[in-house]
Amino acid sequence: MSLRSLLTTGLLAAGALAAPPGYGGSTVTVTVTEKASCSASTSHSTSHSTSHSTSHSTSHSTSKASTPKTYATSTPSSSHSSTSSTLTSSSATSVTTTTSSAANTNASTTILATATSTSYGLNDAAKKAGKLWFGTALDVPGTGEAQDPYYIAEFDNIHDFGEATPANIMKYEFTEPEAGVFNYTGAEEFFTAAAGKAVRCHNLIWSSELPAFITAPTVPWTNATLTAALRRHVTTLVEHFGDRCYSLDVVNEAFSDSPAGAYSANVWYNTIGPAYVVEAFQAASDAVRANNLAVKLYYNDYNIEYLGNKSYAAQALVKDLKNRGIQIDGVGLESHFIAGETPAKAAQQANMEAFTALDVDVVVTELDVRLTLPPTVASESQQVVDYYNTVAACVAVPRCVGIVVWDFDDTYSWIPGTFPGQGYGDLFLQPGGANTPLVRKAPYDGVLEALTGAAEAN
Ligand SMILES: *[C@@H]1O[C@H](CO)[C@@H](O)[C@H](O)[C@H]1NC(C)=O
Ligand SMILES: *[C@@H]1O[C@H](CO)[C@@H](O)[C@H](O)[C@H]1NC(C)=O
Ligand SMILES: *[C@@H]1O[C@H](CO)[C@@H](O)[C@H](O)[C@H]1NC(C)=O
Ligand SMILES: *[C@@H]1O[C@H](CO)[C@@H](O)[C@H](O)[C@H]1NC(C)=O
Repeated sequence: MSLRSLLTTGLLAAGALAAPPGYGGSTVTVTVTEKASCSASTSHSTSHSTSHSTSHSTSHSTSKASTPKTYATSTPSSSHSSTSSTLTSSSATSVTTTTSSAANTNASTTILATATSTSYGLNDAAKKAGKLWFGTALDVPGTGEAQDPYYIAEFDNIHDFGEATPANIMKYEFTEPEAGVFNYTGAEEFFTAAAGKAVRCHNLIWSSELPAFITAPTVPWTNATLTAALRRHVTTLVEHFGDRCYSLDVVNEAFSDSPAGAYSANVWYNTIGPAYVVEAFQAASDAVRANNLAVKLYYNDYNIEYLGNKSYAAQALVKDLKNRGIQIDGVGLESHFIAGETPAKAAQQANMEAFTALDVDVVVTELDVRLTLPPTVASESQQVVDYYNTVAACVAVPRCVGIVVWDFDDTYSWIPGTFPGQGYGDLFLQPGGANTPLVRKAPYDGVLEALTGAAEAN
């Protein structure tokens, strides 16, 4: 679907763009002009309210008036239109409640009921499109989001999220804080929180979030001693987690951006050389076979979402492991994007197909699309298109088996802390801040459109 279609289906029309806290709340005029590179050009002007109380159904009816291909008629037979309206109008209702009629409605009760309702959502649509799930990373336990009932209620909504990725708690420093001393407490709490969902276990070997015994050893590492430590970590966790993990990110971010596709310098590479990646996959592969596990083994990285030297390096790694008879089942395409600087759908699809041609699956593992703050109508509109393109690329590739966003609520996004001045990258926000109702943002609709468009085509 083109940007024009997104415009004419009403995704960018009134009510679809939710303003972040501190921005908006007033009526603005929206003028979105299609990029020159698109085949058909159109412009769309409307009086656009950024107030969250504007209902989505208003935008649908507005768009129906302007195009024969309405949002409602592009939906699958499961009555996406009405269920989507239910979802949106429910969240709109609760926001309206908090802003204008708090006295006579209990907003807390309303939003919690919404999040656990049977509304058609992203995970439902992903399954209908032939994917395993639509999922999210979350940083649980021991964080603010873990304590936020509104956030957790939306995470628990199986209609939106059928998969969960631990943002941090399975990383080395948490799971093996001292040499040979494993701590599963946090990881087990994560599995409990994610009950009923698939879990992409993340990650075993990476350059960051390492314990001091690895980064500052009392006795300097040798190739042999560090390789033994690496193998112990991988083997122990593969065996402990077992098939409770749908997949394991065995090695994370081994390749550099400069020069693109070279190995990054880190404690593993500096001591073991490129062989550390092979050793990690060999240990995981051996543990999977010895224990007759079904868990899938993944390599995960960023800037491998489009063809280029870094993607080629990851492709070469897949070939090398397969040539050695070592198990690798998939490649994770992180997809931390910047609005307006995101590879085109065709570029992402071609890259995915380059991997799947090597007989591995791919997953979009960490999707978010960040903006320079404050958001503008133009950047928010671009963000919808960018989300759409990544999801649509995955939909177009049968062995792209799922899509995972790197958290779903701006309140808890990693982006502002990592990229100062940027943010607003997720699918939901909390206009009232933490511990207040969530509101769907326009990119949610872009994602849903990409997923349901596939269902329509099938
Ligand atoms: C709103 O719901 C909460 C949680 O169920 C409850 O404690 C509170 O008393 C309710 N408030 C009103 C005004 O009904
Ligand atoms: C194990 O991890 C949990 C959760 O991170 C932490 O609260 C606890 O203190 C750790 N236990 C030990 C013995 O380090
Ligand atoms: C470390 O040992 C492995 C296996 O013995 C070998 O393949 C690798 O090249 C060695 N690395 C270095 C830097 O010598
Ligand atoms: C890609 O790698 C090739 C050699 O393998 C090199 O000639 C080329 O400059 C690299 N391109 C980029 C953009 O780094």
